[in-house]
Amino acid sequence: MTNKLYSIGGGQMAEAIIRAVIKNKVFDKSDITVNDISDARRTLLENSYGIATSENLSNDDLAAADIIMIAVRPQDDLSSIAKKIKQSDTKAAIVSIVAGVTIDKLEHLLDIKDVALARIIPNTLTDTGFGYTGASLNDHIEKEQVDAFFKGFGKVEYIPEELIDTFTGYAVAGPNYVYNFYKDLCNAGVLAGLNRELANKLALENLKGAAAMLEQTGKHPSELLDINNSAGGVGINAQYELDNSDFSAGIQRAVMAAVRTTKELGK
Ligand SMILES: NC(=O)c1ccc[n+]([C@@H]2O[C@H](COP(=O)([O-])OP(=O)(O)OC[C@H]3O[C@@H](n4cnc5c(N)ncnc54)[C@H](OP(=O)(O)O)[C@@H]3O)[C@@H](O)[C@H]2O)c1
Repeated sequence: MTNKLYSIGGGQMAEAIIRAVIKNKVFDKSDITVNDISDARRTLLENSYGIATSENLSNDDLAAADIIMIAVRPQDDLSSIAKKIKQSDTKAAIVSIVAGVTIDKLEHLLDIKDVALARIIPNTLTDTGFGYTGASLNDHIEKEQVDAFFKGFGKVEYIPEELIDTFTGYAVAGPNYVYNFYKDLCNAGVLAGLNRELANKLALENLKGAAAMLEQTGKHPSELLDINNSAGGVGINAQYELDNSDFSAGIQRAVMAAVRTTKELGK
């Protein structure tokens, strides 16, 4: 891909995306420019990735870009950024990663006729190749304009915008639920008498193996549990305790709280 990427905002998420798209050869570092008001961030990005940075939004850079990524925080000066983009007469596809800011609001701020716009919620697993970005497109953008870019930092699922908050609370916050499960499983191993290193190693292997079993067999976990939980055995006794605990409801409450909070922050 020889297109040019221009990122407005070079914070943690923009950096993670840029690191991945360079590593996955979706963009060459010479085709990426980041605009950020923070001296420290510009220096770090230049030194770490060899990309160009700018303190001020440049008309030429905006006009030359194929993709402009808006990667500032919701409370930053989005309307000035939108005005500068409009003034540049750019034909770029605009990709916003700003949480909670709707396509409708972005179209209104940009005020560009038939602007090609995508609102995405990226996953934090960008360095691994795993993790889905949720992407909603407006009526004036073609998937082909952004698909290779999105796949440069993981997988992508195109979803209606009304599902973005649910996607955020369930999928983007998703690794947190798994980290918690892993932490508790490791602690259970230590509680049972294994040293920390061994407990961690065995739990991680089971996490990866169980995920591979689910993927390879396509079976529902209940079917795999039926195979593992033999009559009166070890598995079914552990299952009985889990079924008697707050395990399932706790996970479901956590997801619902994350979705609810995403919706509230977007207001
Ligand atoms: N981090 C995540 O896991 C994650 C996941 C999904 C989506 N997001 C979304 O991604 C966006 C960025 O998050 P982040 O974690 O990367 O935030 P961040 O690290 O705070 O980065 C934002 C950067 O933008 C700079 N900035 C502020 N106003 C600017 C302007 N007018 N022009 C140019 N640069 C400007 C900030 O500089 P100063 O610090 O000097 O103000 C900062 O360096 C947010 O909208 C967030 O909702 C984040």
